[in-house]
Amino acid sequence: MQTSGLGDDWAPDSWQRKPVTQQPVYPDAKALDSALARLSRLPPLVTSWEIESLRRQLAEATLGERFLLQGGDCSESFEDCESDSIAAKLKILLQMSLVLVQGGKKRVIRLGRFAGQYAKPRSADTETRGGVTLPVYRGDMINRANFSLADRTPDPELLLRGYERSALTINFIRALIDGGFADLHHPEYWELGFVRRSPLAAEYTRMVESIGESLRFMETLTGGTLGDSSQVDFFTSHEGLHLLYEQAQTRRVPWREGWYNLATHLPWIGNRTRALDGAHIEYFRGIQNPIAIKLGGTVSSDEAIALCERLNPRNESGRLTLITRFGADRIESLLPPIVDAVRRAGKVVLWSCDPMHGNTESLSSGVKTRRFDRILDELEKAFHILQEGGTHLGGVHFELTGDDVTECVGGASGVTEADLARAYRSQVDPRLNYEQALEMALLLSRLMAGKRSRGSTSH
Ligand code: PEP
Ligand code: CO
Repeated sequence: MQTSGLGDDWAPDSWQRKPVTQQPVYPDAKALDSALARLSRLPPLVTSWEIESLRRQLAEATLGERFLLQGGDCSESFEDCESDSIAAKLKILLQMSLVLVQGGKKRVIRLGRFAGQYAKPRSADTETRGGVTLPVYRGDMINRANFSLADRTPDPELLLRGYERSALTINFIRALIDGGFADLHHPEYWELGFVRRSPLAAEYTRMVESIGESLRFMETLTGGTLGDSSQVDFFTSHEGLHLLYEQAQTRRVPWREGWYNLATHLPWIGNRTRALDGAHIEYFRGIQNPIAIKLGGTVSSDEAIALCERLNPRNESGRLTLITRFGADRIESLLPPIVDAVRRAGKVVLWSCDPMHGNTESLSSGVKTRRFDRILDELEKAFHILQEGGTHLGGVHFELTGDDVTECVGGASGVTEADLARAYRSQVDPRLNYEQALEMALLLSRLMAGKRSRGSTSH
């Protein structure tokens, strides 16, 4: 047995001795063992040097030299693992990052919620419809959304299907990027069909032109093409929820200390599984990847500090990102004391804001939605609270899609509650559609540039 390098009894499976929540119950233990054994023999999806590169970039973001843009589906679906949908996600993240580079005047780290975001925490273990109670849907890697016993029974083969689709997704993303898709000289490659019709088209086009001019200016000065600096990279992230799956990908690599989760660059701990003495914290504390943790609900300052100590005992920059998700109404009372306590305790963290999960509401029809204005409101508040707390907002975390869905209401294109029925596709949480995501980036960019950001971009 190799040691963890942590000087204690951590191992990839030591979490199994701790209380664990949000794990599916598989009826067939043999089938589960067989699937996990096959999974652990498959080649990794990412490499340790990519992971270390992300960690260095996050350390720079902690110093205020970069900005983290993390986004993608609440829950990826196997059905959407197809070229158009992946390319559209890449395009919107590239467009948003370009806009943020303009406003923030710093490089942007692009971190997709993709290539593995297939397992979801749920508020209840079961769902009842018309007197029938079945296991709740927990994401495509665990069971199927259709309401039948066969579909809802957790199926270990889906772990392999999820891993394979993650590999297909990452392979396509890498190929697009290597082929020049993400080259800043050619932002026209990222144009989505409906960008021309958008009320935001003019503002976006102006930004693209100005970046093109700056690139040409720099190249004139340096007498060549900018090579690496004009080519952007992408990292992957998912919620590290299903611990047997994460464990199967946790490996040693040659020439480096410790254990890496090679299924993703950055796994994060969800708000529902952050119990200090729980299994998730135990698993995460031992891996070398940069990690993030969602902080919401009633998390106290003491808990936040204890989490920093447990997850980042050497207080290393780039290791830990705190993603706050309190909701627009609660952030002003809950976040400031935590920011203050973390600062006074000298904990090195990157602050990011998820303005989505504290602002989810259910309409009387039962449909879940989020309002553009409330999402923006929480972001703006986070920005100011962190600034007043002597630090800075170093990143944002969105649920979004490059497709033309209608799941969140509001924004310049005016999606109303009545529109939600038209193109509501999410199985779990409502996502910003392409236009709403781009508008959010434009407004955030204005905020970062120190300009007034309130109100719609169309004014
Ligand atoms: C999510 O990111 O989809 C999620 C479930 O978030 P949280 O853990 O913040 O509730
Ligand atoms: Co979600």
